[in-house]
Amino acid sequence: MKAGTKCIHAGVEPDPSTGAIMTPIYQTSTYVQEAPGKHKGYEYARSQNPTRFALERAVAELENGKFGLAFSSGVAATDAVIKLLQPGDEVIAANDMYGGTYRLFTKVFEKFGIKFHYVNMQDAANIKPLINSNTKLIWTETPTNPLMNITDIEALSDIAKEHKLLLCVDNTFASPYLQNPLDLGADIVMHSATKYLGGHSDVIQGCLVMNDEILRDQLYFIQKSCGAVPGPQDCFLVLRGIKTLHIRMQRHCENGEKIAHFLRNHPKVGKVFWCGFEDHPGYAVAKKQMKGFGGMMSFELKDDNVEAATKVLSSTKVFALAESLGGVESLINHPASMTHASIPREERIKNGLSDSLIRLSVGIEDIEDLIEDLNQAIG
Ligand SMILES: Cc1ncc(COP(=O)(O)O)c(C=O)c1O
Repeated sequence: MKAGTKCIHAGVEPDPSTGAIMTPIYQTSTYVQEAPGKHKGYEYARSQNPTRFALERAVAELENGKFGLAFSSGVAATDAVIKLLQPGDEVIAANDMYGGTYRLFTKVFEKFGIKFHYVNMQDAANIKPLINSNTKLIWTETPTNPLMNITDIEALSDIAKEHKLLLCVDNTFASPYLQNPLDLGADIVMHSATKYLGGHSDVIQGCLVMNDEILRDQLYFIQKSCGAVPGPQDCFLVLRGIKTLHIRMQRHCENGEKIAHFLRNHPKVGKVFWCGFEDHPGYAVAKKQMKGFGGMMSFELKDDNVEAATKVLSSTKVFALAESLGGVESLINHPASMTHASIPREERIKNGLSDSLIRLSVGIEDIEDLIEDLNQAIG
């Protein structure tokens, strides 16, 4: 089945009780049993819910994986993966990634004795010197948030396999329409479904997808034991969002490309971070492992100071100044004070995330309006 057809049909079947074409929102906490232990496979909604199961099947199919698990947020999905580990275990993580992931690792899990090493993964070989007998997991994000760096998933997976390490890829920025990390050797794919999967800025949710049944059982155990499950209405919204993922992503890519070139040619704009430029250091890898370059990008002004950036951030009319990304509407964001404020300044600057960086989530509006808006804001 091709990708677009999959987006529309994955995971859903007519509802067995009525034939409803849309999976109903099973808004229930429990299920009546005929006799103790005699039930229809559903006991309690933290463990089983048909709307959630449909979504989990859909996301698994989109990622060409066997098993999907949904969580109450992307961060909760990440949290579940780290809970596979024991005190003393070590993780090698990308040095440029979503600030909330960094905060979870450093502020929550370090105190339980898990050690995190942060490294530039643009060259997969950089992780090799950090591997030791305690290393259990490689955590990467590609393209990265917000600098659009690219990691070669296949190269990372070769190293992970050689050393028997798990490789988890945060695929939020690409979406399953543009990139499928399991096909490239990853063990777990993580999504903030809040973003492109949901696509309409109306839900917070996370998902994991994997092929290995033992891993699935371990993560399902964590899902039901720790309880960070999404409600059925949120699952319905993401299921509904997925039906147009392919069309949305095509338009995000088209608009993204036009905006990236517009910015690059603008006399007041300095560096533009977008992985579709042929001179982007990760271009060849991005072209190999992604179907398109998406709608995310960041840029700096030539007049590189926070005041000038703030003026642009406060002047757009179509681009809304807000955290998050991946919705139909265009957003503009200031990583240093918003999405990445939880990363200490010196750490941010060291990794290339300046105080004046502006991040765009290019939506699917008419491109003329988006360009006109940025043009008037940049001035
Ligand atoms: C790349 C990436 N991963 C994970 C997350 C966390 O997801 P959530 O906000 O759904 O918890 C985000 C949120 O912005 C993100 O951008």
